[in-house]
Amino acid sequence: MARIINEPSRTFGEYLLLPNLTTKDCIVENVDLSTPICRFKKGEEPDLKLNIPFSSAIMQSVSDNNMAIALAKNGGISFIYGSQSIESEAEMVRKVKKYKAGFVISDSNLTPENTLSDVLDLKQRSGHSTMAITEDGTPTGKLLGIVTSRDYRTTRDPLDKKVKEFMTPAKSLIVGHEGISLTEANNIIWEHKLNSLPIVDDNFNLVYMVFRKDYSEDKENPRSLLDSQKRYIVGAGINSRDYKERVPALVEAGVDIVCIDSSEGFSEWQSDTIKWIKDTYGSKVKVGAGNVVEREGFRYLADAGADFVKIGIGGGSICITREQKGIGRGQASAVLDVAAARDEYFEETGIYVPICSDGGIVLDYHITLALAMGADFVMLGRYFAGFDESPTAKIKYGNGYVKEYWGEGSNRARNWARYDLGGKAGLQFEEGVDSYVPYAGKLDDGLGSTLHKIKSTFCNCGAKTIKDIQNNGRLCLVSSTSISEGGAHDVILKNQ
Ligand code: IMP
Repeated sequence: MARIINEPSRTFGEYLLLPNLTTKDCIVENVDLSTPICRFKKGEEPDLKLNIPFSSAIMQSVSDNNMAIALAKNGGISFIYGSQSIESEAEMVRKVKKYKAGFVISDSNLTPENTLSDVLDLKQRSGHSTMAITEDGTPTGKLLGIVTSRDYRTTRDPLDKKVKEFMTPAKSLIVGHEGISLTEANNIIWEHKLNSLPIVDDNFNLVYMVFRKDYSEDKENPRSLLDSQKRYIVGAGINSRDYKERVPALVEAGVDIVCIDSSEGFSEWQSDTIKWIKDTYGSKVKVGAGNVVEREGFRYLADAGADFVKIGIGGGSICITREQKGIGRGQASAVLDVAAARDEYFEETGIYVPICSDGGIVLDYHITLALAMGADFVMLGRYFAGFDESPTAKIKYGNGYVKEYWGEGSNRARNWARYDLGGKAGLQFEEGVDSYVPYAGKLDDGLGSTLHKIKSTFCNCGAKTIKDIQNNGRLCLVSSTSISEGGAHDVILKNQ
């Protein structure tokens, strides 16, 4: 007979935190949410830390280069989705590493041989009226001119008129040279009353565009997560099939940490992947692994050399793994069990392996609970999918808007490598759904409000750091009857 664990599998909504004494210095401004994201030895500092305990999920509908930049600006990390070609994933990593606030890689480019019709078409698709004209039509080709809506008249010019006949040619353009600061670029823009400034290298190849409207980006966010060269830190998803080609390409592109993306990670394929990375690169390349939901799985991946271990099976909002396969565990029970194993491992070996609670965050306070239960950081999909910065379409829905959000195990994403169980690639059934989430506006605003709530709860619990809440926090189980008194009740709400 299979072994039965009689403890019920619990989730976040079944717990609450009890307040502790709040001392007068325990105020929101003094709460530090920085946290390790890779293994380190007792008494040493981790090579990589987050400034806020947030990572965005390794999913097509969540983490591309735009999300990675927006989140790193706020102190967290994105893991760019691995269910795309090696080249396109590496290109996304490169875009993050090359990004400099206010310096934009031009996404509207044509050649002089294109026509006015192409210009109008591109303007319609991109929404941008300034286009760089390069020799080969790429964002890094030799700069030959610029087209803006001031260069043509749709009422008079024929649609087949060539770009070379109406563009502002390079010789008449004011350009900046690679290496100038954003302040210098902005000074040129203001002095010459320009709307944009192309930045070129010594061979007059286009490197960036700087736009007048981006001036405010000059002000750096103090929480930004930056490497030693002041570039944004970024992670990327990998799988246990093509890692020998994918990891080198991501490393070459400048990735800071990779993570094996798998629905269930207590496997020899994960161990082989981690070992190959560590044999090839040593501790230079950091790798997260998972997902697991109990102590043996954690131990196995920690022994294999994982830099962090991710927790969660079946709790994701778009996940149907439990229904399909009957595996998984309530997220709170999983985090509590793995956190105990992490602490034991630290006691025994002197090595701290951070753990990440992945999926199943419904309300903001669930993040605080996950941290108090022992998670070093969390990973969220649904939460980030709703922001402007996620890669998916914003769609009118009733009186408001929604954004699309689909699982990696859905037929839409077809990320079958995530469900690797050897044999031939491919899965016979889905483990995820295709859905909408409420539109949540700008990431800066939404995340700012969530962080404020988390820090306020920390203060109520007398905690100024994640370690404080883990060591001194007190959690209690709630009864189903007491849950009903947790929201507004027994009143008639106005404006409903
Ligand atoms: P959420 O934050 O509750 O939306 O959960 C996001 C997490 O769900 C991801 O980080 C993955 O671990 C997991 N996930 C992503 N796609 C699928 C899927 O198709 N099936 C099951 N789990 C998924």
